[in-house]
Amino acid sequence: MSERRRSAGTPGPAALSADERKERARFTKIMSEPVPIPEAAIERAVTVMRSGRLFRYGEDTGGEGEAASFERAFASLVGRRHAVAINSCGCALFLAMKALGVTPGDKVLCSGFTLAPVPGAISHIGAEHVLVDVTERLTVDLQDLEEKAAQSGAKLLILSHMRGHVHGLDAVATLCDRLGVAIIEDCAHTLGARWDGRPVGSFGAIACYSSQTFKHINSGEGGILATDDDAIAAKAIMLSGSYMMYAQNGTCPPEEVFAPIRDATPNYSMRMSNLVAAILRPQLDQLDGWIARWNDAYRRIEAGLKTIPHIDPIPRDRRDAFVGSSIQFLAEPDLAPEIAAAFVDEAAAHGVYIKWFGADRTAGFTSRYDQWRHLADRRRLVGADRVLPRLMDMRIAVSFTPEDCRTIVTVLAEAMDAATKGQRG
Ligand SMILES: Cc1ncc(COP(=O)(O)O)c(C=O)c1O
Repeated sequence: MSERRRSAGTPGPAALSADERKERARFTKIMSEPVPIPEAAIERAVTVMRSGRLFRYGEDTGGEGEAASFERAFASLVGRRHAVAINSCGCALFLAMKALGVTPGDKVLCSGFTLAPVPGAISHIGAEHVLVDVTERLTVDLQDLEEKAAQSGAKLLILSHMRGHVHGLDAVATLCDRLGVAIIEDCAHTLGARWDGRPVGSFGAIACYSSQTFKHINSGEGGILATDDDAIAAKAIMLSGSYMMYAQNGTCPPEEVFAPIRDATPNYSMRMSNLVAAILRPQLDQLDGWIARWNDAYRRIEAGLKTIPHIDPIPRDRRDAFVGSSIQFLAEPDLAPEIAAAFVDEAAAHGVYIKWFGADRTAGFTSRYDQWRHLADRRRLVGADRVLPRLMDMRIAVSFTPEDCRTIVTVLAEAMDAATKGQRG
């Protein structure tokens, strides 16, 4: 271990000289810049507005609407037979559970590293959370999954590929198969990702996606539920609120699948509008190009992070063809929390915003299981407790250039230097 690494727990009192301060790099772009809305999407949205047909269903729609067309394109993109376009990924998770027959009081397994809307969806349905531990790679701990499934008797797992860290899907699917546990994949951060050559989202019974502004496609709010199962798709279409115009769905199952449920299924009004779909549809054509840009920036930043003392990017499995729209790294276990906090502050003061999961309070888009106080399951997760307090997370905008990546790495290196020396720039 280097001298700098050994002294990391004890910040010194020295301050930067005025000259040193001036030389510090600063990142001046917006870190959280969303994906741009393509001109084609803007034109389609304007056309929809001119038509007044913003609501996706109607007795006389004048042909296929934007929501239906988006559903067909989305299903084809993710390699599923059905896509149901709705209002958010949180609601997609809710509808997915409903479609699988979850009722209040049922137990639902949920990876312990995810964002608040995921336990929120379980609360929404009135089910009981059973949190499953995570490894140092932010993927589900298979042994804990097996134990918790056995103890709780839960028959459903919501598997969040949080921040794009794809769980070992073949192993999870095999285990869940053996345990008789169905999987809903939360693909809010993995649209376009693959596991061992196969689209992430194609391993569970249902996959749920988000088009909230900071995801891989951007409509402000939006969610998509994808499945191969006719009965699940029909249920989700009815539940989302299709009235009796479900046949207008872009990937509608055959009429006979609706027969037993059409009059017996509540309408939760969770639809996507034609306007939102019009904004989204042309973005699907841009996705491959955006992924290439994200991944290029990711690799550059990752290489830079490896040169900075006291932090290590999270290694990825070679089968994980992820989308690098954010990057996560761990502070070394012996980095004192006040130095980690100083590093985060120093980086922010120079334009690079890091989300730190070790902070005492949930802030912004961080989310730690022990801070979801509405859960009845208050058991500690040993792996998560080891990893989350050291976890740092940074957005990567699709617009980042190689020069931007260099500046970001320089800001972080200087922030760590200043934090470990107790110097503020
Ligand atoms: C991992 C994860 N799952 C689900 C969601 C819910 O997505 P939405 O905001 O579309 O409801 C989010 C939102 O950020 C998320 O980060």
